[in-house]
Amino acid sequence: MVDQPLREIADERDVRIGAALAPGSLRSDPSYWKRAKDEFNAVTPENALKMGPLRPSPKTYDFTDADAIVNFGAAHDKYVRGHTLVWHNQKPDWFEAWEHTDDQIRTFLRDHIHTVAGRYRAKIDAWDVVNEAVADDGTLRETVWSEALGEEYLDLAFEWASEATDADLYYNDYGADAVNEKSDAIYDLLEGMLDRGVPVDGVGLQLHALGDHPDPESIAENIERFRELGLDVQITEMDVAFHRGEVPDDPLEVQADYYRDVFEACLDAGCETIVTWGVADASTWLRGFADFPERYTGDPLLFDERYDPKPAYDAVRAVLED
Ligand code: XIL
Repeated sequence: MVDQPLREIADERDVRIGAALAPGSLRSDPSYWKRAKDEFNAVTPENALKMGPLRPSPKTYDFTDADAIVNFGAAHDKYVRGHTLVWHNQKPDWFEAWEHTDDQIRTFLRDHIHTVAGRYRAKIDAWDVVNEAVADDGTLRETVWSEALGEEYLDLAFEWASEATDADLYYNDYGADAVNEKSDAIYDLLEGMLDRGVPVDGVGLQLHALGDHPDPESIAENIERFRELGLDVQITEMDVAFHRGEVPDDPLEVQADYYRDVFEACLDAGCETIVTWGVADASTWLRGFADFPERYTGDPLLFDERYDPKPAYDAVRAVLED
């Protein structure tokens, strides 16, 4: 008997298992396309909706790659996450040289959010409106957005997004998966926004994990407190790597155990969307990361080099079947 694909099991259970997608692989690699289609009921563009790829010049947009992924999701009845409207990284190359006033930044960002969120109004279910606004020490990160618009830029970004789309609006960050100083700061930030009536619906926890960290129980506790605040929680960029010097004897088993523990803890805590940051190890972002290969092993996903399912895949399947 051929095993039932993961997406069917997820559909039956009414939860979402997702993958970040790259347009080149989707167009040119049939194995990639097939896994993306069959195994996941949620997708997000890995890069194509970021400002850099979308904005070749100050007044133009190039939606080719973003459309390819969003339309693939819509055509195959998948939940589509949009990533991301406001971020300090992956801005267009011309941005650095642009001598702008604060007002021009405001107009530019508002138009960008209105245009991009508006274009995908019927197709994108959830947006990461703001990505990584909080620094590792819990203070607000100084970015071109905060410098021009002050701390209020987050409120404005969510308000502008809500003018253009009915999608659920998320704040997304890394290193805030468990209860810690950074997630405390994000909790306070979002609580303040909710108090001010800002239309924020959820928090995205990226969960780029290393070894068996962060602790799944602490992740569950974190999810619960955000839910008690009235926010939805999604795991948005999960992958599981190891520090080079700390690879266990049986990395694939340790990785599978961690995927299992996280999926169990998250589903129990009421987080029902878990997106992995890629389809297969062959094209994980960690292989292009500046520090790789000294720092990380580059096989963090559910499918291997040849698109075959790994022990982590079986572990996730077992949790969803349970
Ligand atoms: C990464 C992509 O995976 C890479 O292809 C790109 O070169 C850099 O960005 N946090 C995020 C994602 O929110 O957008 C990042 O994606 C990974 C870390």
